[in-house]
Amino acid sequence: MNIILFGAPGAGKGTQSALLVERKGMKQISTGDIFREHIRQETRLGVEAKSFMDAGNLVPDEIVVGMVEDVLKDLGGQSFILDGFPRTVPQAESLEVMLQSNSLKIDKALFLEVPRDVLIARLAGRRVCTGCGATYHTLVKKPAMAGICDLCGANVEQRKDDKEDVVLTRLEAYETSTAPLKAYFTKKGRFVTVSGVGETEDIYKRLIAHI
Ligand code: AP5
Ligand code: MG
Repeated sequence: MNIILFGAPGAGKGTQSALLVERKGMKQISTGDIFREHIRQETRLGVEAKSFMDAGNLVPDEIVVGMVEDVLKDLGGQSFILDGFPRTVPQAESLEVMLQSNSLKIDKALFLEVPRDVLIARLAGRRVCTGCGATYHTLVKKPAMAGICDLCGANVEQRKDDKEDVVLTRLEAYETSTAPLKAYFTKKGRFVTVSGVGETEDIYKRLIAHI
């Protein structure tokens, strides 16, 4: 079972993907996480992506598509979750070509629907481990020791693009470039909307009912 987990910034794509990885053995392909790793390692791809990400804008399609293609080639039959890709109609069209040439298919595109005020509150409070990438929240999911990851002991910090002004730019990019994909997926007939509001475990149950 291969899925696209689709939703606005802060919808809970990363949080739900982590549960699917842990409980269902799926592989998470988060383009945002892959870019952040490239930035950390100061690769050429990281240098290319950094200015777009820091400003809250989308990285150009050709850069993202080339990166995803490399990952898809290397899956070895493992079920996967696309988290944060595709994010534009051209990316979705490129994905179709890449899937076909690698004999892969997407079974469902699951949309986590969350109102804007909830998205903003989630992103404002999000903190992320600098070591293993685990996600926390200042109000609803605090690490046991302030600023320290429960899982690996590294520092927990705010993502640069979670600052308020950058969040607004990201939400605008989502509305302009990504939300139109709902119509694209609906036409393809494998699109399911799931409420992304409420307890993490309840949302997981809603998602898993479709997987
Ligand atoms: P990316 O890293 O993908 O960011 P995003 O899409 O903006 O999504 P987020 O990671 O911010 O949110 P999420 O849905 O994963 O929420 P999370 O689970 O963390 O992309 C970053 C950047 O990379 C982009 O801006 C762009 O520049 C570039 N990029 C990446 N892919 C690209 C592409 N395809 N094309 C072009 N550019 C691309 O949850 C958020 C917070 O809420 C956390 O604190 C969490 O603990 C909390 N939370 C989660 N669920 C709940 C709940 N049920 N109740 C309460 N709190 C909750
Ligand atoms: Mg994420």
